[in-house]
Amino acid sequence: MKTLTFLNQKGGVWKTTTAVTVAHGLALQGRDVLLVDLDAQGNVADALGMGALKKSGEADGLYELLIRERGLQAVRPSGRPRLDVILGHKKTLQAKQILAGMDFREYLLRNALAELASEYDVCLLDVAPGVDVLQIGALVAADFFVIPVALSHLAVVGAMDALGTVVSLQKAGAFRGKFLGVLPTHWERQTNESDLQLRAMAQQFKRLVWPAIPMDPRAKEAPRWGKTLWEYAPKGRAIRGIRINDQYHGGYQRGLARLVQEVGL
Ligand SMILES: Nc1ncnc2c1ncn2[C@@H]1O[C@H](COP(=O)(O)OP(=O)(O)O)[C@@H](O)[C@H]1O
Ligand SMILES: [Mg+2]
Repeated sequence: MKTLTFLNQKGGVWKTTTAVTVAHGLALQGRDVLLVDLDAQGNVADALGMGALKKSGEADGLYELLIRERGLQAVRPSGRPRLDVILGHKKTLQAKQILAGMDFREYLLRNALAELASEYDVCLLDVAPGVDVLQIGALVAADFFVIPVALSHLAVVGAMDALGTVVSLQKAGAFRGKFLGVLPTHWERQTNESDLQLRAMAQQFKRLVWPAIPMDPRAKEAPRWGKTLWEYAPKGRAIRGIRINDQYHGGYQRGLARLVQEVGL
């Protein structure tokens, strides 16, 4: 099982949307996928139409995994073939507090996931904004990581900072994951700003810049219906990219093809 983490200290950079879209995309391509929500808001449940589980208290998968150490009980079917999930929930906050007092806390997630490794081809981790024991744990657990970054000046500056933290942690030998690159999000064709920022990113990161994800009104609606983008807007811009002079650019579909190659799935 290969583990991939999407992380950024900022919220609203489409981490959850990306994790859910990539997870379902890989499952549709025949991989066995585990998607883990490390955010107490539990947005993965909402995005997959499993929000009712949060209310019934049955969504405390992460607590189950890390504190009760019952990995198999933590896993739930998503209702889609080959896609299972470990959901986040209010109780994730409690799990975090308990973890904070434990030895080797940064390694507990990695060890807990290793127990499930024979069941899946790939495990995707969606983290909450900020920096805490679970984000560090997600970095330690990752074989690969990607940083989604919104195409606005402040966000791009923030991403450089985030990357600085990551690089110093990596130098200190805190984790072994490979940095796959930055995923530009919030791409808008109407303004110049997006393309300016995209160019700035390309200067800094070169080939490590992934196909940008465009703004897509349908992508914003999808969580309300509990549907993934492959179900709700498969022909929308977020999936297919933007057409410029008869050619499509960006979009999750293109990113997914690159991911399969780079990760070797
Ligand atoms: N391509 C898109 N175009 C427009 N809105 C989007 C797109 N992708 C996601 N969104 C919306 O942006 C908001 C924040 O996305 P989310 O994935 O929850 O970010 P994060 O997990 O980084 O906080 C959500 O309401 C989501 O539906
Ligand atoms: Mg999120």
